[in-house]
Amino acid sequence: MREINASIPFDKALWRQDILASEAHVAMLAAQGIVSQEDANAIANGLARIATEYETQGVPEDWDLEDIHMTTESRLSELIGPVAGRLHTARSRNDQVATDFRLWVRSAIDQMDEGLADLQRALVARAEEHASAIMPGFTHLQTAQPVTLGHHLMAYYEMFARDRSRLEDARARLNECPLGSAALAGTGFAIDRDRTAQALDFTRPCANSLDAVSDRDFALDYLHAASLAAIHLSRLAEELILWASQPYGFVRMPDALSTGSSIMPQKKNPDAAELVRGHAGRVIGCATALMITMKGLPLAYSKDMQDDKPPVFEAAGLMELSVAAMTGMIAEATFHTDRLREAAELGYATATDLADWLVREADIPFREAHHITGAVVKLAEERGASLDALPLADLQDIDARIDERVFAALSVDASVAARASYGGTAPEQVRIQIGRAKRALATRE
Ligand code: ARG
Repeated sequence: MREINASIPFDKALWRQDILASEAHVAMLAAQGIVSQEDANAIANGLARIATEYETQGVPEDWDLEDIHMTTESRLSELIGPVAGRLHTARSRNDQVATDFRLWVRSAIDQMDEGLADLQRALVARAEEHASAIMPGFTHLQTAQPVTLGHHLMAYYEMFARDRSRLEDARARLNECPLGSAALAGTGFAIDRDRTAQALDFTRPCANSLDAVSDRDFALDYLHAASLAAIHLSRLAEELILWASQPYGFVRMPDALSTGSSIMPQKKNPDAAELVRGHAGRVIGCATALMITMKGLPLAYSKDMQDDKPPVFEAAGLMELSVAAMTGMIAEATFHTDRLREAAELGYATATDLADWLVREADIPFREAHHITGAVVKLAEERGASLDALPLADLQDIDARIDERVFAALSVDASVAARASYGGTAPEQVRIQIGRAKRALATRE
């Protein structure tokens, strides 16, 4: 029982939140005349001393004391005697742990948000530097149309902006205080829940005590937001891994975030990116684990809920590392812009531009223009030439309506510049989106 029951090995991470919540609780008990001011002072001084002890010596791990709540209460009674026993008036470990854990998840949300904001800043800086650098845009990982590197990087800015807005939503829903719900039904003491909620920076007390002690949605909201951010990180990581491989040669990863091989001297491996890609699997596993723990639990608290902490702690640690590693990789990577342009010029990436030109200049229906362009691409393939290297006479053999003006549309620069619709890849559009992003990052830390 001792071994299966103990949560102290992991819930000691909650010690700061546990002490903060106890301080708020005892101050409220004194203000309401439920304990004397003198006893409240003794308790508060004892808690302050315990905080210093934990800070300097760590939290002791006595499994017989089960969890962080009992550990602190037991130390408090060693320090101040039987008065310590008054702290637990009008509360239970059920509302205590729910409060502590909300406080912990709230700071994890804030931390992830800050990390993602730094990553966005790195993306925006690199996007600005490469707002007009041309690269192949892919669908099905096949060259599709030329795009700009700035546009590609800003796509990830948008994903992380949504991740941050999910965190913001999660934070707003989380920010209600369970303290005072006691074991499950509330308490007969004349407590002031608004006061404790306010002292702990919650917006309001939770409205239903049964729900408050047994709700773990806030942790699931966090894990869901973390999972989506991890998915986005893993997509970016995957691209960096591909781009850094020799056949692509699009990017050189920073040495500080790569490793060598113990046997092949020429190797430089993008390990940090691979670990970011791998961590996504673990973070999603954490979210899945807690969802399955929670399904089917009757009201109110059940001990299953003690298992809520390890997956949240694990996911938070993985996300902190992944976001920091990705920020370093984006900030320090060297993009080989010549190679990117060369790749965009292969693969007939401007074929759509030829079709669009036929529609615009020769008033040909798009489907027919698509067909004519197919014949041009086939010819270029046979000749091993790029589209703009085909002689005009050969193009006119395919369709007489083609004239020399078409060549201006067939360069990758013209192709990219033409896509100036809102949200498109034209450098002017990319710069507009970069400006918007910079303003958003400046106003929303
Ligand atoms: N260690 C417990 C947890 O993390 C604290 C709450 C215990 N409550 C109880 N009724 N046994 O969930």
